[in-house]
Amino acid sequence: MEVALLAARQAGRILRAGLHQDLQVSYKGVRNLVTNVDRAAEARIIRTILHHFPTHSILAEESHPHEGDSDHRWIIDPLDGTTNYSHRFPFFCVSIALEARGQMQLGVVYDPLRRECFCAEAGAGATLNGRPISVSSTATLKKSLLVTGFAYDIQTHPKNNLDHFIRFSLSAQAVRRTGSAALDLCYVAAGRFDGFWEMRLHPWDTAAGSLIVAEAGGRVSRFSGAPYANGDEDILATNGKIHAEMIRHFEG
Ligand code: IPD
Ligand code: CA
Ligand code: CA
Repeated sequence: MEVALLAARQAGRILRAGLHQDLQVSYKGVRNLVTNVDRAAEARIIRTILHHFPTHSILAEESHPHEGDSDHRWIIDPLDGTTNYSHRFPFFCVSIALEARGQMQLGVVYDPLRRECFCAEAGAGATLNGRPISVSSTATLKKSLLVTGFAYDIQTHPKNNLDHFIRFSLSAQAVRRTGSAALDLCYVAAGRFDGFWEMRLHPWDTAAGSLIVAEAGGRVSRFSGAPYANGDEDILATNGKIHAEMIRHFEG
């Protein structure tokens, strides 16, 4: 956890500094972009982790996987919310998780502008800047503030999430779209949102945040209610109380 926190803060400094500089933007797809800051933050995180744990494996968004010891794997998104970042919209974070023998052990999500650090260790609860956090107690969808996001292939993929967006917008108190899935998950953990759903996220988007939700007393599953494994096709994360009601909405 100490190394994860150190790496997250180092990357956070890079993100803060980069906001005031010209960005070099390149495109991985029609809408999916990457900047020099994503790459610099990722290189810094990997350097710090490998300095302390030279044998561990690493899966990071902008690099080829680093195949080390198969028991320990770090899963890294150096900048979750790149589109926000490239427009200077102040909502993005660093996400770092460690998996041991296929089980998520710890997660750190750091918002460098608000200096909010969400952390969890398996079985030890979740914290925000060192203080325990827990999910909301909202009991019905009607009173819930939900959040979602859309994959970069929204224009071409038949499952574009707009059907769910419309349905939840009509039955929840309100629905937001922030542009950072990792922070969305942490905001569920901290009780700021009551529920989050999204499709086709990558392992680095959800690795830390899904552990943080579970450790804050929330529930994480597939849309169907089946157990969620990192990188699955869809994810539903809630305070637990509105989970069944949300699953019924996916069933139509
Ligand atoms: C994206 C963000 C966004 C979500 C996208 C992700 P990136 O990650 O988490 O909220 O809707 O699906 O790809 O590209 O900014 O790291
Ligand atoms: Ca991401
Ligand atoms: Ca990213």
